[in-house]
Amino acid sequence: MSWSPETQSFLKHSPPPAASPPARGSSQSPAPKSQFTHRHLLQLAAFYASCPLRVVAHMDIDCFYAQAEMIKRGITPEKPFAVQQWQGLIAVNYAARAFGISRHTTATEAKKLCPALQCQHVATWKEGDDKWAYHDDAAANMATHKVSLDPYRKESRSLVALVKENLPPHLQRVEKASIDEVFLDLSAHVHAVLMQRFPELSGPPPSDDPDERLPMPSVLGLHWQDDLLVGIDDGETTAELEDPDWDDVAMNIGSEIMRGLRTEVRRRLGYTSSAGVASNKMLSKLGSAHKKPNSQTIIRRRAAQNFLSGFKLTKIRNLGGKLGEQVCMAFMTDMVVELLKVPIEQCRHRFGDDTGTWIYNVIRGVDHNEVNPRTQINSILSAKSFRPAINTTDQAIKWLRIFVADVHSRLVEEGILENRRRPRTISLQHRHGSQARSRQSAIPQGGPLDHETLLDLATNLLGQLSLEGGVWPCSNLSLTVSGFEEGVRNNTAIDSFFPKGGHVLPMAPPVALLKPGTSRAAEEDSTGPAPKRPRRPDGIERFFPPKGVQKTKGGQSMLGRPSGKQPGQQQRGLSDAYVRDEYMSDEPASRAPANHQQTPVAPGYTCDQCDAGFETGTELQCHQDWHFAKELQDQEGRVRPRVARNAAPTTHAPDNTSNSQHGAGASSSSSSSRRPGRPKKTEPGQGRLNFEPFE
Ligand code: CTP
Ligand code: CA
Ligand code: CA
Repeated sequence: MSWSPETQSFLKHSPPPAASPPARGSSQSPAPKSQFTHRHLLQLAAFYASCPLRVVAHMDIDCFYAQAEMIKRGITPEKPFAVQQWQGLIAVNYAARAFGISRHTTATEAKKLCPALQCQHVATWKEGDDKWAYHDDAAANMATHKVSLDPYRKESRSLVALVKENLPPHLQRVEKASIDEVFLDLSAHVHAVLMQRFPELSGPPPSDDPDERLPMPSVLGLHWQDDLLVGIDDGETTAELEDPDWDDVAMNIGSEIMRGLRTEVRRRLGYTSSAGVASNKMLSKLGSAHKKPNSQTIIRRRAAQNFLSGFKLTKIRNLGGKLGEQVCMAFMTDMVVELLKVPIEQCRHRFGDDTGTWIYNVIRGVDHNEVNPRTQINSILSAKSFRPAINTTDQAIKWLRIFVADVHSRLVEEGILENRRRPRTISLQHRHGSQARSRQSAIPQGGPLDHETLLDLATNLLGQLSLEGGVWPCSNLSLTVSGFEEGVRNNTAIDSFFPKGGHVLPMAPPVALLKPGTSRAAEEDSTGPAPKRPRRPDGIERFFPPKGVQKTKGGQSMLGRPSGKQPGQQQRGLSDAYVRDEYMSDEPASRAPANHQQTPVAPGYTCDQCDAGFETGTELQCHQDWHFAKELQDQEGRVRPRVARNAAPTTHAPDNTSNSQHGAGASSSSSSSRRPGRPKKTEPGQGRLNFEPFE
């Protein structure tokens, strides 16, 4: 839906709703009025994040991986069931949770707690195989197997597709939040239903004043079915509400939409889910986790503060990390109910105007984060942690082959064969002791992106890392392709390598693996038969960067070609730096001890916004603080988080400078210990999330 500039300006200048509606039937006000206005209704239709009638929902599948395996195997919900990864459990169904089994229980302990428990190991790629499969002996063979989450990704795609299919196309905003979660901004949909059910709302304001209050809703009570309705004061209720205003009616319609959607998910895909319906993302996410499984929780605007009061601050979205900790330390409490007593001036004084105000508001249930309608993944990562560590190039290349097969099969699902979507960047992350390093390069935009091309690029990156030394023993390798481009036509991509004069420009890294004088572009010219690919050099020489290919800091490409936008390439927005996929760590999610032959394995923590992998939850949280700071920065537009300049959250953290640094044809490197222009540590007393205005 697009709005004219006049309408947009009209929508923006909205006074907040009155604190409370005039009493119904009071002598001063014979015709009772709502606290909401006609302008608020228009804001609702236009998805305004600050609209007080806004309805946002969050849906999360119950014990997702467990249900996925149970549905596939026809196992009924009352049978205790868990999904195993090595010796740990990564998903536990609700029947098994009743025995005290959780993600932190090992498979052996779980069997003791519930001998009837059925465990299914996740699918794995076995060394040497070119397809994942369910292997009975996977748990004991961590050194030669790598987890595949493909079955769950496939289910995740079906889930998102079904959600989108079941909402009116022009009134939906769906954000895939993780492998089993979506946020939905239901505002415009709810608006349409309101107009249908309450025709009195559809006309213009009687006095042509958009700020004129609406009449009170012509309903006496609202029915919430089996939903859990969070109360205004202590206690929860499913009872109907008397004297509802339009925000309650809107929420009630939202809950009806969600109930229908969840029923459809159950009917068509077999999954039970839980949902939270509220006025923003933060509250709806807390709501979906509030009562599981198979229920939904409604947090009306008037109940928000009461709902939040019972939480610890660190449970609130974006406050689970360093910032949350700092707030708790500053005000000597971690309970929201106590923090509500802190005046806004004190919040601002301690955390700066923007962050302080945000903290003050968020604990009162105010959150204006947009539901971002992107549902497509923007990166694919394949990773493996080695216990024991690996020590040779041959071993590493064996794993690179598996990563490439894994990544390629997922690229096929993304439409690489039809050139529907194509990644622009490939990177290899490497861990040696406590040192993490990464290398990345552009993916040549012409010709097929097949196994061999990917393997060439990956081995080249490994070679670049090897040149610096300090590679072995290696405890973790991961390969990522990112920066997807939509609808790249074969010709467009190839055309970009033909300058006007008709000369063929050589292409990026794999050219190094060709014999001198062989042009890769010529080899892959789609107009003629491809000549036989020359044999790759064996041994260490294949790891040297191709002649003429240098590491760059942007501007000039590896091959001397300007790294600016190529014809036919889309302009990439900042959001490109936000790559998103699902949990893909190869590590057990629980703190389960590893199998007999190996040392205990640290849990894998994967950022659900960008796939960066971390060894500890704290590292992950620091990194998520960074995303959060970035989100705030994007929203504010006029401030920037100091943290983005002063702290490197990860070796391959998304970075708003990455687009310029990693332009077409560029290759770049990064290391946790080296970030040009960034002091290593924050200054004493400096919070990670202090903001300063642009100079
Ligand atoms: N997951 C994982 N590693 C984590 C967290 C989650 O592998 N650190 C996987 C789980 O196996 C899970 C899926 O991601 O099935 C979704 O996670 P989540 O929604 O947190 O848990 P569920 O298992 O779905 O359980 P719940 O019913 O509590 O949502
Ligand atoms: Ca879930
Ligand atoms: Ca989830």
